[in-house]
Amino acid sequence: MKAQFITLDGIDGAGKSTNLAVIRNWFEERKLPVLFTREPGGTPIGEALRALLLNPATKVSLHTETLLMFAARRQHLEEVILPALEQGVHVVSDRFTDATFAYQGGGRGLDFKQIEILENWVQQDFRPDLTLLMDVPLEVSMARISQTREKDRFEQEQADFFTRVRAAYLHRAAAAPERYAVVDGNRDLAAVRADVEAVLCRHFQACAY
Ligand code: TYD
Repeated sequence: MKAQFITLDGIDGAGKSTNLAVIRNWFEERKLPVLFTREPGGTPIGEALRALLLNPATKVSLHTETLLMFAARRQHLEEVILPALEQGVHVVSDRFTDATFAYQGGGRGLDFKQIEILENWVQQDFRPDLTLLMDVPLEVSMARISQTREKDRFEQEQADFFTRVRAAYLHRAAAAPERYAVVDGNRDLAAVRADVEAVLCRHFQACAY
């Protein structure tokens, strides 16, 4: 099996961080070569763009915001993701282009077709092999975000914004079920963990049942 590109996505507060640890552990236990990275970010210039994009003081138009996400992504692909995959290292990215469809498309209302144009230009036909979509009801997400000490520029958005973000994620997952695994993050940690591990086992056919 060629090196796999796996992404983890979902609305803020869906439990991405907890499950990244589960995924990290799963790879470590099997001694599979893997690189963990994130978006926006993953490179020096990408992290600089992330700091701008997440800073609540930043004033930026929707089109510029979207272009900056894709600018960071292009550098991430060239500098980190593609070289690792070429060397046979699996890559797990904390967010990828699904986030642009969900946040800039669903949340902010940018036409999905415009995002598709950028996706095709920046990535050509490169897409994740597997996307784990963490999903929780809006109340759960909002309750978790409210406990965050300093909210970033996206976390400061209102509930209706996240309702649209969540709907866009679920819509994309439903349209391509072969690529997405939707994980119900509104259960106890052990149950969520078991689900995430089962998804990886199925994808890599790497577990004895
Ligand atoms: P997030 O991944 O939630 O980081 P943390 O777990 O440290 O809070 O923060 C990234 C934010 O950027 C998140 O709110 C979603 C947003 N985002 C977009 O709006 N579009 C994108 O294309 C990407 C990659 C992220």
